[in-house]
Amino acid sequence: GVVGKNGYRHYMEKELHEHPIVIGQTLRRFVDPSSHKIILPHMPFDLSTLKRGIITACGSAFYAGLIGRYWLEEYARLPIDIDVASEMRYRNPPVESQGMGLVISQSGETADTLAALRNLKNEHQKIVSILNNEFSTIARESDVVLGTDAGVEIAVASTKAFTAQLTVLSCLTLVIAREKNKITPENKKVCLTALMDLPSRVAEVLQMKDKIQEIAHKIANAQSVIYLGRGIMYPVAMEGALKLKEISYIHADAYAAGEMKHGPIALIDQTVPVIAVVPSGFLFEKTLSNLQEAKARGGHIIAFTDAKGAEALSTIAEQIIILPTVHAFVAPILYTVPVQMLAYEAAILKGTDVDQPRNLAKSVTVE
Ligand code: G6P
Repeated sequence: GVVGKNGYRHYMEKELHEHPIVIGQTLRRFVDPSSHKIILPHMPFDLSTLKRGIITACGSAFYAGLIGRYWLEEYARLPIDIDVASEMRYRNPPVESQGMGLVISQSGETADTLAALRNLKNEHQKIVSILNNEFSTIARESDVVLGTDAGVEIAVASTKAFTAQLTVLSCLTLVIAREKNKITPENKKVCLTALMDLPSRVAEVLQMKDKIQEIAHKIANAQSVIYLGRGIMYPVAMEGALKLKEISYIHADAYAAGEMKHGPIALIDQTVPVIAVVPSGFLFEKTLSNLQEAKARGGHIIAFTDAKGAEALSTIAEQIIILPTVHAFVAPILYTVPVQMLAYEAAILKGTDVDQPRNLAKSVTVE
């Protein structure tokens, strides 16, 4: 193709290394460099009086939507309904007209996502889409397109397009929070500074390949891997599990850590690695006690955390990956990078066709 691998082993590895550039580019598109004001294209509704949002997408884009829900509800106090597009298109949910239909897609061509968009339009929702392909069918049928500047993504498993979607969602959240007066200017500034700082922090994570490879060796022969997270880190756990099964063919599932005792804990023994996505701060102690329960059943705990979290985890986790300390607002973006890297390194050990995994397509244009 026109795009080469630039010396990387696979497109996926190259695209993982583009995370910092892509996040920076996407931010530059929406953040005015001198005033540091976030500027979005004109919206087809008044954000200050917007009452609801409904989000739909497939695959990783859906997980981006789940993270967006936590942000929009927590920071902008905007009620959100969300579902995968294959469900949303047949659900016929009752919606008040003039709400925001938020559609997320890398390709802009996913059949279920397009069908769900059309249903939302029939229900008089204004469609805001977050798209990497701004010349796609979904783009043409949207009221507003918020573009991700991820560039061409070739590997079937999405990486940089996902963090670009999150970058756009974080900007959208801050704008709605501002318009609805739900965030103080000081808090908004702190969040925006954390976003602007993110490319450098992500670049640090990309340097941790050796450590990630070590973890990959620990999980490569497992039959099954359990990912745990709470709150906004729960969809990050889902993204980690999806990537692992897609490209390494190791069975993996993600659970909200607090839900473990309602079933998944029955699966845990010495053969099942438990991967926790757990930065210090809000909900850290809660996840910690769930991990203690897993350890008591012989579980092999692997934790992605920060320096502060690492201290508390030292007696529980067998492997700890210490990530840069960042503001909670941007943690889901930062923590996505190492879980994607781990899936990649596990796939390398398995010798799978990383860029073209079996049975999967880059863009699912049929139902
Ligand atoms: C496929 C890809 C995924 C992607 C999903 C949604 O399953 O393998 O990586 O997340 O489609 O695609 P979209 O283009 O709508 O984001």
